[in-house]
This record gives sequence, structure tokens and C-alpha cells, in this order.
Amino acid sequence: MSEWQNYRQPVIFNGISMRKAKMKADRDFQIGEVDKRIFGSFIEHVGRAVYGGIYEPGHPLADEFGFRKDVMELVKEIDVPIVRYPGGNFVSGYNWEDGVGPKDKRPKRLELAWNATETNEVGLNEFAKWAQAVNTEIMMAVNLGTRGVDAARNLVEYCNHTSGSHYSDLRIEHGVKEPYKIKTWCLGNEMDGPWQIGHKTAEEYGRIACEAGKVMKGVDPEIELVACGSSSVDMPTFGDWEAEVLNQAYDQVDYISLHQYYGNKSMDTANFLAKTLDMDRFISGVISTCDYIQSKKKSKKKINLSFDEWNVWFHTSGENPKPWSIAPPQLEDVYNVEDALMVGAMLITLLRHADRVKMACLAQLVNVIAPIMTHNGGDAWRQTIFYPYLHASKYGRGTVLWTLIDSPKYDSRDYSDVPYLDAVAVYTKDGITVFALNRGEEEMELDCEISGFGIYYVKEHIVLKNADRYAANTMKHPECIVPMCNGNAAIEDGICKAVLSPLSWNVIRLCV
Ligand code: AHR
Repeated sequence: MSEWQNYRQPVIFNGISMRKAKMKADRDFQIGEVDKRIFGSFIEHVGRAVYGGIYEPGHPLADEFGFRKDVMELVKEIDVPIVRYPGGNFVSGYNWEDGVGPKDKRPKRLELAWNATETNEVGLNEFAKWAQAVNTEIMMAVNLGTRGVDAARNLVEYCNHTSGSHYSDLRIEHGVKEPYKIKTWCLGNEMDGPWQIGHKTAEEYGRIACEAGKVMKGVDPEIELVACGSSSVDMPTFGDWEAEVLNQAYDQVDYISLHQYYGNKSMDTANFLAKTLDMDRFISGVISTCDYIQSKKKSKKKINLSFDEWNVWFHTSGENPKPWSIAPPQLEDVYNVEDALMVGAMLITLLRHADRVKMACLAQLVNVIAPIMTHNGGDAWRQTIFYPYLHASKYGRGTVLWTLIDSPKYDSRDYSDVPYLDAVAVYTKDGITVFALNRGEEEMELDCEISGFGIYYVKEHIVLKNADRYAANTMKHPECIVPMCNGNAAIEDGICKAVLSPLSWNVIRLCV
């Protein structure tokens, strides 16, 4: 029996058996550089994401433009490199022109994706001001639902052309002299979904994506385009959709999108935390399709992946209890500890695919299925899922190492051979960070052997856990769940050893 197989057996410590897992990584075996844009997020005009979220002019902490400074501080704390805007389902019925120019002339619209009234008080120029204040880039989506090629190229001209044309001069007239030079553009949103305004077949969408992309790049050849992939791995058109869209638009686009939300309605923790196996297969499947079309087209260009909507979402539905109201609370999921573990597992999965997943957006950022919550006129606070996202954004920008894992496994309702340990090592300028999740309800000893760096020591071992997996942060108890630097990782004979608590998210920071 090999040493690796031995680790599948429980080991006995003082008569108590403890689960044991092992991981190995080596400086020379690298998956790839992390593109910082995988720590992106998303603000859509839905619920209280914009109005009452990032923007609340009457709030005591609002700045001169009406943006909440307390929310800005929390966004800056996570250091979000890119934010997708303005939707989501919203974008498929949106006229971008409604949101620019004098505020008193902007129309109120019936917003059909979420059954609310859109006042257009915040539009592109206001959002760009906010984005600059929180030091983030915009990932702009164009409407390929009710609109198309013409509106898309006009928007690029408004945003990115310097001056001397109708739309660039209009932007200047609106008080914005310098072009925004927005680099990343989404060609619509979830066009494969029957719920989408202006839903299309793969062939119809592939054609419009190709034609819109052509003129958008005609206006600004520096931009990069994201084509809509599947809205979830469970879509009946998954696979065929990506192949057909890329067949039509391969030369125009640079990325294909993936969207996926997971939930735990059945309160089956083991099965819930195993769902990243499914996410991993989703990513690998899309990579295979991209490469198949590349080889079919004999193209030198590789299409990378933009996982531009991902999160846990199941505590609420998208229903608006008061149709046509303004900024009603919608999709305000309150996240618990196990949701944070799942978000951690999803981040590990994204990091493990750093060679091809170049962008990803935690959907969303404020109030709507979000790591940051606010109370109108009141406080802002961090949900449980804020923390794994913060840790990955802060300590995960570097080179992802191939991380071999040998762990005991379990079978759950929908998955078999699920490793109790999920982990990945990232080498950054400050050292090595190991992100590790214990999916099990027992303690697990972890041996972590990382070669090629010489001597290393433990800087800190951050742990997020709680005896009550359903505990959450709320306005009244905003710090019920916070991570602690109380893990026991230590170096013994050159190996980093730690005991991972049951159902815990661990960040082990090693200095070299
Ligand atoms: O993020 C919420 C919604 O989920 C988005 O608007 C849509 O793209 C997806 O279905």
C-alpha cells in the first residue's frame, strides 16, 4: 500500500481516531497566474442594490453625490477589481440613454425583469463616479434583449471615444470630458434563458453577438467581449449553446460566460458542500467546448472563461411583493456559516482553474444576494460570505500551484467520492497561502507539504467556523460570525500540520 493510500485511513491519536488528509504542492508545478479580475463582483439595478445600497442620498453617511461612504469602505475592504453593471436580467430591457443627462429629464420606466419601477436616478455616469471612488473597473453589459447592434455601438462610442462624434460629444455635454475607456463588455445577459427579455436561440444569439461585437470593436478595437454562455450547467441547451454561439462569434469574442448559483433547500450540508464537484465539471466542460471550436476553426485564438455570476442563492426568490414599487427589498438572502463554506469552496474551484477562468463576479455586491448588507437610513454590515471572498481577494493574488490532495471521501445524495478536504495553494509575493475547507463534521488532521521554497513558517491560520452552521450576521448582531486567527497550523520537520475544525474554512498563510 502506498503512503498516499494510507492517508485514506483514520489515524489513532491517544485512542481517538481522527480523519487525516494530505496535500502536496511544488513551486515548479504551476497552474497559472491569477487574473485579479476573478475577484470581481456585480451591481444590478434590482432590489436595493443601487437605491438603498450603494446610493442613498439622504443617508447621514452619503457623500456629495449620494453614495454611502460606509458601503464604499466595505467594498474597498474586499478590494473588488471589477464590477459588472447594470445587469443581469435588468439589462435586457434597459435603455442606457434613460440614465444619462439631466436627472430631472430622465424617464421612470416599468422594469419588466424584476417588476419594479426604475427611476433612472443612477445611470452610467453616476455609477462610473462610484466605481472610481471604490477603485474598481466597470464590466459593462449591453442590451441584446430588446435592443441590439445600434444601441451597443452607440454606448461604446459614448463611453470610450474621445470626442468629435455624436455620442462622445454628448458625454462631454453631460460633464464627462475624458472617455472612460471601459475595457470589458458583456454581449447581453443569459440569452439562453426563457425568462430573459428577448430570449434567443443559440443561432439567433450567436448572430447578434457576432454583429454587435463587430461594430463595438469597430468603434474601439481595444475592448474585450464576453459572449453569453449557459445560465447554469443544468440548462437543457448547455454544451450545444456554447458550441453554436462560438461557431458564430468566435472571431469577435474573447471570453464566454458561465453563471451558477447553488442552494441547500433540503438542509443537507454534505450534499450542499459537494456541489463544487459539479462546478468543476461545468468549467471543464466549457473549456472543452471552447477548445473544440478553436480546433474546428483552426484558430490561433483561445477563448477564456468569465464566470460572471456565481454565489449561493436559495434563501429568497426574485419575487417582488409590491409590483412596480421603487427599490423594494428583493433577493435579500441572509447567509449563514455553511453558505460561507460553500462560497469558500467555489473560490477554491475558481482558483484551481486560474489558467482559463480569467474573470469571475460574485453575484452580487450589496443587499441583493450579497456579502454587504445595509439598512435604509441605518448601518451597513458584513454577511458571512464576505469573509472567504475577502480572504481570497487579499491573499489569493499570485500563482496557483498544482495542489495534490489525498483525503478520505464520502458519498452524498447526489455525489460520490467527495473528498472531505478541498484545498488549493497560491504562491504570492508575501509567501504561500493555503485555502482549505473541511467539508466534514469531524476534525481532520492536515499535512501540507510544499516544496521548492526552502524553509517556511506559519504567519497565521485564519479559521471561519461556528458550532451552529445556520448562524448568520444581522443588523442587530453584525459580528456574530467573524473569522479568528486561532488555527493551530505549525511546521514540524518541514511539513505544515494543522487540525482543521469540523465544517471550517481555513486560510493558512506561510512565509518563506
Ligand atoms: O443575480 C441575479 C440574477 O440571476 C441576474 O439578474 C441574472 O442574470 C441571473 O439569473
